[in-house]
Amino acid sequence: MTTLRIEPTGGPLGAFVTGIDLTRPLDAATASALRDAAVTHKVVFLPGQDISLDDLERTTDDLGGRTDTPFVTPLPGRPMVVRVLKEADAKIGFGEAWHTDLSYLPEPPAFTCLWSSEIPPKGGDTMWSNQAAAYAALNDETKAEIDGLYAIHSAGRPYGANGYYAQVKDQLSMGIEPSAEADKEFRHPVVAKHPDTGEPVLFVNQTYTIRIDGYEKERSDRLLKRLFLHAVQEQFRYRVQWQPHMLTIWDNRATQHFAINDYQGHRREMFRTSVKGAPLLAV
Ligand code: SIN
Repeated sequence: MTTLRIEPTGGPLGAFVTGIDLTRPLDAATASALRDAAVTHKVVFLPGQDISLDDLERTTDDLGGRTDTPFVTPLPGRPMVVRVLKEADAKIGFGEAWHTDLSYLPEPPAFTCLWSSEIPPKGGDTMWSNQAAAYAALNDETKAEIDGLYAIHSAGRPYGANGYYAQVKDQLSMGIEPSAEADKEFRHPVVAKHPDTGEPVLFVNQTYTIRIDGYEKERSDRLLKRLFLHAVQEQFRYRVQWQPHMLTIWDNRATQHFAINDYQGHRREMFRTSVKGAPLLAV
């Protein structure tokens, strides 16, 4: 087994992991240690990984198995790999709003892997927010209100036939496939029990969570607005400056993230895979 060197960022989440070479297949113990590190630190950054897309797919399998990304055109011949691309002349990026990946699915991915192929000379950072810390910081009254509630998630706003990406499709560098299918709804607990650690995590995000199940609109909007703002406050966040060929793996059940689009005139290219998840249960 390889011994991982794990250096926490000192922030509310994140650790840099070295001492591992992802161009080689991982033994089961090392794969499990890497997965554990991603659960413990919520996001792990592995700099200096000169990996191929085959290596990225194999690492994704080692972490629990690949799953696809609906409404985003995958790479030819690699149905589970997405290219997150913004060309130098494009204005609109991908993931420029707080979200938890694919939270509109019955089984949102457990982890996301994002590998930097080409980064701008400055900018293009990504931020994550720790949703276990966000839950823990809520006052008792709010906890009592939201424990046991369910929220409805849908991909309709970004990916619906007339959704955001359908409006800006021509200004994007990557293939998005808006569809009426995106309007499907699915319900998750507002406070989910993390499947690996059992810790309560706040599980609502402004991109995909559309209402509180059973609340009338005004009450639902008021509560969600408050939770969305609370969930991504500075004290729960870590922001990484990408290095070329860095693989980042995040625990999608316990985080939200935001890709900062502040590098106009430069190209940014990343490759992304998702690791299979499981249904989220209430605490
Ligand atoms: C994403 O939301 O998956 C993209 C994140 C990024 O490009 O930094």
